[in-house]
Amino acid sequence: MDGMSTRWATPIVRRVEREETDATHVHLREITLRVEQSQRAKSDSPQPLHKHVYESEFGFLNMPEKPVLELKQLIHRRLAEVIMATTRLTQQDLMKLKITSESWFHVTREGGYVRSHNHPQHSWSAIYCVDQGDAEPDYDHDAGYLLFYDPRSNADMFLDVANSEMHAELNFHAMRFRPKNGELILFPSYVWHAVEPYRGERPRITVAANFRFNTPSG
Ligand SMILES: [Fe+2]
Repeated sequence: MDGMSTRWATPIVRRVEREETDATHVHLREITLRVEQSQRAKSDSPQPLHKHVYESEFGFLNMPEKPVLELKQLIHRRLAEVIMATTRLTQQDLMKLKITSESWFHVTREGGYVRSHNHPQHSWSAIYCVDQGDAEPDYDHDAGYLLFYDPRSNADMFLDVANSEMHAELNFHAMRFRPKNGELILFPSYVWHAVEPYRGERPRITVAANFRFNTPSG
């Protein structure tokens, strides 16, 4: 409509980056499961986790294995693209910035879920789906869906037919989907999100990371 702007938009990027048969992708599954078996879960997680969600120590993307390094490079490359698409920053500007990040992975088993949270002290966050687990069950609320909530905290204070029927990019509903194997999701760290319960035999595995950026002087 002439004269209308869509302020306060939220850029959430979803891309399937790899076939699930891709060797790098397959190796990531092996590495995460190996670490899970050999290392204790993170004991000081920022939020209490369900007992069937294993969280690795932070720094996963700093592991020297090639598949991990390639995933780190992929996330950095895509994040740079998103930042350049959403700001005036150029590649040269980005190369001058100091990047600070934390990264980890989750292995989720029977009934595991992650409560709603966001990631303070960071500007951008990433989730990469290594393995979505078993085929989708009939009851999709047992399938480990990701939920992203409307960050406009009071935007739904009053709903009637004139606003509750707005198009997807304007309405108040959570964005809800089951990440695909090999899918990378990038989003602003302020967005509250959660993982619905996952019930299945095959472990559900995701890698996550948070990023913040400093200019050389600050
Ligand atoms: Fe998160």
